[in-house]
Amino acid sequence: MEKKRARWRDEEEDAVVADRRRHEKEKKKKAKLERIGRERNGEQTTTTTTPDGKRRVLHGTVAEIDLTSSGLLRFTGPEIRSCRSVENYERLNHIEEGAYGVVFRGRDVSTGEIVALKKLKVDKDQHGFPITSLREIEALMELSHPNIVNLKEVVIGGALDQIYIVMEFVEHDLKSLMTDMREPFLQSEVKTILHQLLSATAHMHENWIIHRDLKTSNLLMNNKGMIKVADFGLARYFSEPAAPMTPLVVTLWYRAPEILLGAKQYSTEVDMWSIGCIFGELLINKPLIEGKSEINQIMKIFELLGYPDESSWPGFRSLPNAKSINIPKDRKPKTSLRSRFPYITSAGVDLLSSLLQFDPKKRITAKEALEHPYFKEEPMPKPPEAFPSFPSKAGEERKRKAPSPRAPVAVHGFEVSDSKLLGFSDDENDNMPILASPSSSLFRDNEQLGAGFQLRFG
Ligand SMILES: Nc1ncnc2c1ncn2[C@@H]1O[C@H](COP(=O)(O)OP(=O)(O)O)[C@@H](O)[C@H]1O
Ligand SMILES: [Mg+2]
Repeated sequence: MEKKRARWRDEEEDAVVADRRRHEKEKKKKAKLERIGRERNGEQTTTTTTPDGKRRVLHGTVAEIDLTSSGLLRFTGPEIRSCRSVENYERLNHIEEGAYGVVFRGRDVSTGEIVALKKLKVDKDQHGFPITSLREIEALMELSHPNIVNLKEVVIGGALDQIYIVMEFVEHDLKSLMTDMREPFLQSEVKTILHQLLSATAHMHENWIIHRDLKTSNLLMNNKGMIKVADFGLARYFSEPAAPMTPLVVTLWYRAPEILLGAKQYSTEVDMWSIGCIFGELLINKPLIEGKSEINQIMKIFELLGYPDESSWPGFRSLPNAKSINIPKDRKPKTSLRSRFPYITSAGVDLLSSLLQFDPKKRITAKEALEHPYFKEEPMPKPPEAFPSFPSKAGEERKRKAPSPRAPVAVHGFEVSDSKLLGFSDDENDNMPILASPSSSLFRDNEQLGAGFQLRFG
């Protein structure tokens, strides 16, 4: 892969980087417009002749200059389109309130198309337009893939803080779907879901984007068996070599060991670890590694996979949090992947253990995983169109139940539980149920946030 500078830095650097990028963009745009102008007007681009015959240097972005009969100059500048209004959509029902947005189902008034609208939580007083929302919009604009949710447009409400992402409506998220399923997905279905997830992830990584919050509640599935990766609120561009990034990412149960052990640099491999956890969850119909805290999470990982050492993970001992870990003499795991998944083939276990490699350098990439023999052996992946269709909660065919565990909140920098944000307009009286919000007692600290609030204690 060619080298590229990081386009998104971590929070404290974001403002500086954004400023520089804006400046560079403006410079580029200006140069482009000047070039177009030169092509159209010959050498007259940056200088033009006024009616009084004097030559005047034109500053700014002038693409076309026309002397009208009235003698007035008419400028055709770059097209600036404003966002359309949310009034173009009729609100149907509330789908979910997450930590960073409220999601509704809506209908395009002019076309009748059913869409999902995510109202972004904008904290005017403290941080202005949240960086997570900018990242989500930028990533979704950049990525176009059948297994990534399609961004249609961004619309605005009456006030400056009412911003909505309009996306294609997808009937289910895997978390809610699996909560209602009495049996896990069939092997052939797991393969199809996993393959689509890998395909979307390979596309993100090829486009220099790490998702950083892959988990079942962020994987949508439509009634045609198509997976759509959603929720790019924690996504960011990465660079090679890896730049320092915040460790406050990825919902605890899906968080890679290098992040848990405090690595300052990490990259696309963190998404691959999450995919390993999702793969396991699809097979057993419950989260694979459900830690109650960061340290408990890492201990549970060791229980499942054994303890790493200098040969399996060179350099792991020097990671900041590794020093405080007591490694017992017997490094063997309490259970093995093989015994935890007795019904899958050796190829299946091999793929799972390649995803759950301690050493990020040894972890399989999305591109490699797509070619894994697991997908080429019986039972073959089920064609998506052969998937059964389920009644959709989001489409109000069924009631929603438990919310899913949250990604860490600190990185987003604010907490919101403003019932006003639930509606399309501020004065609307919303009777929709409000799910646990980040400022409720369930969310006292980041650790709880990371661990989620669905933990099953004893
Ligand atoms: N395009 C969509 N179609 C249908 N439901 C969606 C869509 N996008 C999100 N949802 C639902 O809303 C939930 C929260 O959306 P998400 O983008 O993950 O927000 P958050 O950042 O708050 O987690 C998802 O888990 C899913 O149930
Ligand atoms: Mg989410």
